[in-house]
Amino acid sequence: DVHHSDYDLSTPITSTSGLRSGLTSYGDAHFSLFLRKVFIKALGYSDSALSLPIIGIINTYSSFNPCHSTVPQLIEAVKRGVLASGGLPVDFPTISVHESFSSPTSMYLRNLMSMDTEEMIKAQPVDAVVMIGGCDKTVPAQLMGGISANKPALPLITGPMMPGSVEGVRVGACTDCRSYWARYRAGDVDVEDIMSVNEELAPTGGTCGVMGTASTMACVTAGLGLLDLRAGATAAAVSSARLRVAEQTGRNAVAVLRMEHMRPQELLTRESFLNAITVLQAIGGSTNAVVHLMAIINRHPGVAGTINLKTFDEIGKKTPLLVDLKPSGDNYMTDFHNAGGMLAVMHTLKPFLHLSARTYTGQTLGELLDSTSFKSFSYSQQIVRPLDDPLYPRSSLVVLYGNLSPNGAVMKASASKNRNLLQHRGRACVFENSADMAKRIDSPDLEVDADSVLLLKSIGPVGNPGMPEAGLIPIPQKLGRQGVADMLRISDGRMSGTAGGTIVLHCSPESADLDSVFGVVQSGDTIVCDVENRKLSLELDDHEISQRIAERKRRAEDISSSKTTHGPTSGRREPWLERAHVRGYRGLYEREVNQAHLGCDFGFLTAQGPTPNETSS
Ligand code: FES
Ligand code: MG
Repeated sequence: DVHHSDYDLSTPITSTSGLRSGLTSYGDAHFSLFLRKVFIKALGYSDSALSLPIIGIINTYSSFNPCHSTVPQLIEAVKRGVLASGGLPVDFPTISVHESFSSPTSMYLRNLMSMDTEEMIKAQPVDAVVMIGGCDKTVPAQLMGGISANKPALPLITGPMMPGSVEGVRVGACTDCRSYWARYRAGDVDVEDIMSVNEELAPTGGTCGVMGTASTMACVTAGLGLLDLRAGATAAAVSSARLRVAEQTGRNAVAVLRMEHMRPQELLTRESFLNAITVLQAIGGSTNAVVHLMAIINRHPGVAGTINLKTFDEIGKKTPLLVDLKPSGDNYMTDFHNAGGMLAVMHTLKPFLHLSARTYTGQTLGELLDSTSFKSFSYSQQIVRPLDDPLYPRSSLVVLYGNLSPNGAVMKASASKNRNLLQHRGRACVFENSADMAKRIDSPDLEVDADSVLLLKSIGPVGNPGMPEAGLIPIPQKLGRQGVADMLRISDGRMSGTAGGTIVLHCSPESADLDSVFGVVQSGDTIVCDVENRKLSLELDDHEISQRIAERKRRAEDISSSKTTHGPTSGRREPWLERAHVRGYRGLYEREVNQAHLGCDFGFLTAQGPTPNETSS
């Protein structure tokens, strides 16, 4: 028997039962149902079609989103699966967020998309939904919104693009976008070549073809138990396998209605998230996934507060990096898929996983793995490595603490190009914000050498709303030309999951916080990074640090008191007074976004609900 949603179009108009109170906007429940039927029938549906369970399909197609270019075909395939299983598929739109067409940043729009997703799932008479997403922020937004809405919700990933080819060398967005651009900056690639590379980096629709944020979130979603292990995360966007995944997802969406406890808040448990974090570490996933997972976790009333950044680090200490993909390794998502994809990863990781976690099939993860045949010898073990021959022994992603990041900072140690920098002491070369950096980074007079630590402030969630992916501070041109390929770089911003280098990100609290030590670092100060001991600090005596903080606050007060005195005055961050008066979504964002270690969600959307807008946890 099928569980129908609360306000159910299958209920006959004359029924006296089954109409729940509180769901009608017209006071008269029967009249409300009568009107809903009037309008759904305007679309041509019959009572007999409406007697079926209704499976909503979230359409995130946009002509500005190449990562979602195949969504129309996927919807058709989902519909086929839903109909074949006796459901009624109904697709509806939400916003679509692409990395390159989301000014100021896609991160800025992630929470908006999550609100759209949550509210449309809640608002419409769907019994379950299939959420079609793929590009970096869309899968996190849908998981956040889906968990908050808490109707049965199955993700469907659009899938990775195919690799391209430049003079016989395979290339793919966007690790190679960066490596070719760096070569162009260094003068090794000329302007004609860089233009022809531009044509090949994204040769098909689909998500970036390396282990960037999109692929990472797809794999993590499989780790949560929400995707078909063989193909759900990895089948190419333009493959027939991807269409079969879509059809099967339609069938599954009807099937979950026949099972107990399949709402996201019941299906997903702390163990599901621990598995997802294990997957993140084992695939050498994107640092952005740490922010997204914290946001997703903090939407779940039963899990929020039980997992924090320390959990990621502790899991990392036990988990080897097994998947040899760019940017940590050498290959593309299509290779990963051909090497067994997440099925190979999950079977290999079995000793590290919580096998009692439940999956979309209704089975436990253990049962699901037992029911999937897996013979490692039939796949290349070069790409999904066995436990005894990992790509990196453990701690692909590490969390660093110290006075520069009391709430944690994240580094993808496995993507470092100069492992000596993982234990490093150097002189800070500080940029106050992105504009300052753009102005000075390539100046011949910049006081910097290969041992300097590049530190960029003011690209955190509030400091530069949307927390741009500007954490990959470029190597100053004069050092690049001398052949310096990597330097220790630190910021309160993010970095694309497709990038590599020795990069410390997400310093929390961010520099815009007037109490932060990060905000008062000056050029010439000594910075110590000790990955082995998970330390990141400014070596300066506490007295000097407090004096600098006090001085910075005095300056901020002066600025504030010269302006209007209306609005909340926590006095903690410089832009606060102005933020209270910013209109629209931007004002909402600036007032409500929480810090990176909490997921950069809006406080009022978290399971804890509205909390004072404090930056420290
Ligand atoms: Fe969409 Fe990379 S731009 S996945
Ligand atoms: Mg990206």
